[in-house]
Amino acid sequence: MTKHMSSLQNFNILNFQEKLLTWYYANKRDLPWRENQDPYKVWVSEIMLQQTKVDTVIPYFHNFIEKFPTVYALAAADEQDVLKAWEGLGYYSRARNLQHAVREVVEIYDGQVPDNPKELEGLKGIGSYTKGAILSIAFNQPEPAVDGNVMRVFSRVLNIDDDIALAKTKKLFEAIIYEVISHEDPSSFNQAIMDLGATICTPKSPACLICPVQEHCLGFELGIEQQLPIKSKAKKNKKIPYAVLLIRNAQNEIAIEQRPDDGLLANLWQFPMVPMQDISPELIENWFYANYGMKIKLGEKKSDLKHVFSHLTWELEIYSANFNQDIREEGKLKFVTEEELSSYPFPVSHIKMKDFV
Ligand code: ADE
Repeated sequence: MTKHMSSLQNFNILNFQEKLLTWYYANKRDLPWRENQDPYKVWVSEIMLQQTKVDTVIPYFHNFIEKFPTVYALAAADEQDVLKAWEGLGYYSRARNLQHAVREVVEIYDGQVPDNPKELEGLKGIGSYTKGAILSIAFNQPEPAVDGNVMRVFSRVLNIDDDIALAKTKKLFEAIIYEVISHEDPSSFNQAIMDLGATICTPKSPACLICPVQEHCLGFELGIEQQLPIKSKAKKNKKIPYAVLLIRNAQNEIAIEQRPDDGLLANLWQFPMVPMQDISPELIENWFYANYGMKIKLGEKKSDLKHVFSHLTWELEIYSANFNQDIREEGKLKFVTEEELSSYPFPVSHIKMKDFV
């Protein structure tokens, strides 16, 4: 760590702050969560923005805040409504954890989002990034909020070639930000770095010629900005094959089921899925009878679909099927009309399958 902390000795912190903030005040993006510093809204936006682009988040943020405008509204909401408002954003445990944490804020902290690190990091789903983002953006405290974008910017500016996939590298960047963050306006400083990373210091072809802190950037000076940051490759995703069944009953309704209440996509709804590691398509009907107690008739294959999660990939084959009885509930399956489908929260891959229903 000393290697990099000493590289700050030749780094003109005050001038860097001034250049960055002047640029930010003139160019900051007009984003809905920037309208005020309401810590609840900052919190919601930061959870949504993890793994998801700003443009995608904006409509979700508006809708979410309209439905759940305060911690009290979110705490009192039905989890299914929260998941429905999150539908399509992915990483649904973030929504469940957010609601869990907001309930703690209502019960333990009288509805006030804590303004200190200890209490914040005790809340479900709040890690070092979200904690720092809330403390700096909402409460103006000089705390680092380090994500991949921030590491990209500072690895270039300071020519740091440590592997940003490692936890200790994130700690190094946090230590650096403690040194360089503006104490006059920490909220704007962190948001300025985020905007710089999103609009100028982009991963592939950074716009160094218009960068407000170009004169401070060692990566630019050495012509190696495109080689930074260094990131070791993630492990290969495991592929899991499934057949997904779009089953109609005699009334032309369609079968859905709720996923278990923990693990991947907990509590979301889906069309029934048959694991295909060990069986061939001819055995699907038998497998279904053994597992659901229902005699279905497999129809034609409609399509293939691949869905990549952070740690695994679903390889899906979509089939139509018939269940020739006039039954609305059968074990864990529920038959609903096409209109009713839209009131249940589905994972993205299953939303796509609605086209084949
Ligand atoms: N990315 C993550 N947090 C952000 C924020 N508050 N503003 C803009 N982009 C972001």
